[in-house]
Amino acid sequence: MEPKHEFNVGDLTVKHSEHVATVTINRPDKLNALTVEFWTDLPAILDRLAIDESVRAVILTGEGERAFCAGGDIPGFLALNTIASITAYQEAAMAAFRAIELAPWPVIAAVNGIALGGGCELVLACDMAIAADHARFGLPEARLGLVPGFGALRGPEVIGRAMTRYLIASGDSIDAYRAHEAGLVQWVVAPSELQNEAQALAQRIASQSPNAVATSKQMINRTIDANAVGQSVRDLTALQCSADRLTGVTAFVGRRTPEFTTRTEGARKVLA
Ligand code: COA
Repeated sequence: MEPKHEFNVGDLTVKHSEHVATVTINRPDKLNALTVEFWTDLPAILDRLAIDESVRAVILTGEGERAFCAGGDIPGFLALNTIASITAYQEAAMAAFRAIELAPWPVIAAVNGIALGGGCELVLACDMAIAADHARFGLPEARLGLVPGFGALRGPEVIGRAMTRYLIASGDSIDAYRAHEAGLVQWVVAPSELQNEAQALAQRIASQSPNAVATSKQMINRTIDANAVGQSVRDLTALQCSADRLTGVTAFVGRRTPEFTTRTEGARKVLA
């Protein structure tokens, strides 16, 4: 179907036809890694689509065949060097994941490739996911001296505590079929079928009562505890002030393997 509206906000392209809007992360040369602006651009788009009463389902996907999203922009983390900027970043990221969960229609992740870190957390925040069979999923932030905050909070409910711990603690990634078994993904399809399947699903959702769908979403997503989010932002900020983040991020930028020191070495040393 030809899009009725098309607009861009930062690295995001939005195409909207009849009842379905598709939001595409469009930074394929960096595997659709998310700049700082993404965390405010995405909620702004969702707010804009929420005002339009014709929208009944949204698809979130990535440009290209390699990546849905490889997570937060890692070199950009080096610019976050005050407690205030780190806290603001964590709050914005949490708010963006929550904006997906609070949106009045289902958001379908059409996972067209790698979904790592923040990319995997976006899938966790979405209402359901279809993955191309070559997609891979993981939460490898510990290699950077970081923790996927939303993933640590929501992962246990979606994929179970042990699978969440395994992905975060090991940094391993899993393929689309394993993600399907874990409940992160509802369908695995050939890459050539991904966008059509996502559109067809969105159309089926659009034919349902929008009020029934919105109410059920609200009920299902009510469970995150606001205190847990606030405490997590404080914990993540403390962690990001540690030497580990500097070790991990500079190793990624320099294409080296990070060498972390002791467990107690880190917290607050860098900014103290
Ligand atoms: N942030 C910023 N840039 C990223 C990125 C990220 N999260 N992930 C990939 N890129 C960039 C690479 O730096 C590279 O850019 P360049 O061509 O200008 O050097 C480009 O995307 C392609 O990635 P590259 O690493 O060369 O591809 P690869 O096939 O060798 O490896 C990955 C693919 C996904 C395994 C690897 O890019 C990776 O580990 N990325 C980080 C994943 C991660 O830790 N995410 C959590 C972030 S919080």
